[in-house]
Amino acid sequence: MLRAAGLAKAYRAPSGAPIRVLDGVDLAVKAGEVAAVTGASGSGKSTLLNLLGLLEDADGGELWFGDERVGGLGRSAKSRARGRWVGFVFQAFLLVPSLTALENVLLAARYVGRPAAEARRRALALLDELGVADRRDHYPAQLSGGEQQRVAWCRAVLNDPPLLLADEPTGNLDDANGAVILDGLRRRAQAGAAVVVASHHPEVVAGWGAVYRLRGGRLEAA
Ligand SMILES: Nc1ncnc2c1ncn2[C@@H]1O[C@H](COP(=O)(O)OP(=O)(O)OP(=O)(O)O)[C@@H](O)[C@H]1O
Ligand SMILES: [Mg+2]
Repeated sequence: MLRAAGLAKAYRAPSGAPIRVLDGVDLAVKAGEVAAVTGASGSGKSTLLNLLGLLEDADGGELWFGDERVGGLGRSAKSRARGRWVGFVFQAFLLVPSLTALENVLLAARYVGRPAAEARRRALALLDELGVADRRDHYPAQLSGGEQQRVAWCRAVLNDPPLLLADEPTGNLDDANGAVILDGLRRRAQAGAAVVVASHHPEVVAGWGAVYRLRGGRLEAA
């Protein structure tokens, strides 16, 4: 479902010196599989997920969703591929500040041409499942960190994406809500999604499937 080969990414430090964050990352995740990516803070987990989710361009390497080669697509084709394939649970939730919780969830429906009434029903059901339905008209600034994370989760899964990328998905949640999201990730995988979870708490994803560690810009078996 997801295949990356030789992904490389360097940033520039404010001094201008290059920082090689990823230096040839290979990863394959089949439908129904979970891959956990661990590694120290700063090791490149978020960078890797951003590349896999087509949010940033790699400096080198190849990326496929199914048999569609998506690494080299132009900007708008990339947005479409992302909308069709990827649900993203961000470390910083990236809710749009000027939209309410419900409107943020419905953003995900934009690229898939789903009937508005049906998308709204599904969004409300998800918000209810996550215990934030009564906050649907709140703007992000009027939500707690954990509530924002739960709204972001609803947005990520609104379209039942075949590919789910989760960056520290439980970072801001108490145990009960963290368990809801982890359970949701597991269930998405059981339903056939390919799931990549990044977390520096390996215990979060222990026993889920393949566990990798990012070190020195490479992905190794943990
Ligand atoms: N836009 C940028 N410009 C320069 N350096 C960056 C940029 N984004 C990230 N970095 C650097 O790249 C490295 C990897 O960052 P990344 O966010 O991928 O780490 P991470 O493994 O997700 O860490 P954490 O566990 O703390 O979330 C860090 O050292 C960071 O300082
Ligand atoms: Mg990170």
